[in-house]
Amino acid sequence: MKPEHAVALQHTVEALLGAESAGERLAAVCRVLQALPHYTGVYIYALEGDMLVLKAFHGRATGHTRIPSGKGICGASVLTRAPVTVVDVGSDPRYLACNLETKSEIVFPIIRGETYLAQIDVDSDDRAAFGAEDEDLLAEVAKLLAPLF
Ligand code: SME
Repeated sequence: MKPEHAVALQHTVEALLGAESAGERLAAVCRVLQALPHYTGVYIYALEGDMLVLKAFHGRATGHTRIPSGKGICGASVLTRAPVTVVDVGSDPRYLACNLETKSEIVFPIIRGETYLAQIDVDSDDRAAFGAEDEDLLAEVAKLLAPLF
């Protein structure tokens, strides 16, 4: 793991320990992750029935507060039950745009057993911003967040 990702993970653990409610924990984790230079916006959605519902974010606000599973990059992760990384959102027909600045996106699922609970969605203004280091970091964060859902 790159040093900056390791620092973000350490700060995530501290944020989780320091916050007093589940809502505060999610907000704090979004804030900590968004401090990474290429993380422009961080969003946490819970899967409620067939709907992804925005629970916390840091960075640009989004109009996509409720996303049907199967719609968008976020919904694609629910269907495949896997992380989805998009190098160039402009050339992905699944993409639900929030703004014109976003160039790439990663969605990482939070799964317990067989149950898809929630997901971490990160936008970047940089093209091809996300790689294996980001997947490794978000996998650890997803494990830490799973008990909150
Ligand atoms: N771009 C996402 C929608 C959510 S916003 O990025 C916060 C998608 O295509 O599903």
